[in-house]
Amino acid sequence: METTTAEFEPKIIAFLCNWCTYAGADLAGTSRLKYPANIRAIRLTCTGRIEPMFLLKAFQEGADAVLVSGCHPGDCHYTSGNYHARRRWTVFRKLLEFSGIDPRRVLFSWVSAAEGRKWSELVAEITAQVRELGPFTSFERIVKA
Ligand code: FES
Repeated sequence: METTTAEFEPKIIAFLCNWCTYAGADLAGTSRLKYPANIRAIRLTCTGRIEPMFLLKAFQEGADAVLVSGCHPGDCHYTSGNYHARRRWTVFRKLLEFSGIDPRRVLFSWVSAAEGRKWSELVAEITAQVRELGPFTSFERIVKA
């Protein structure tokens, strides 16, 4: 049976920096802000830890989209990890495009520990965006190519 867009609940894997976005997501929860339950959070010490294999593995395991989110520029607890992540991001996007993955399925954001509301709005926004894109079904096709 095929899933319609109305029934489709995207699975979004989110790699979150422990010190900012993870804490911001926690704040959204303790503030009882409502947002879609489509995020599967994976906590990293810093977004500087992100690497292309994490993204590819997430898609291989069934993610419909991947989000990487951490401290705002200048706020990284390891000084420059988020700058490294941002630089890698440019390369990731090219790699994903080359692999046939729609770059709209890979998202990057800055959310601080004090931005619970921003987190809840971001999750609602990206969930709607990914729902529009539909399920990601092409990973096996990409791997077999
Ligand atoms: Fe948050 Fe580096 S500690 S991005």
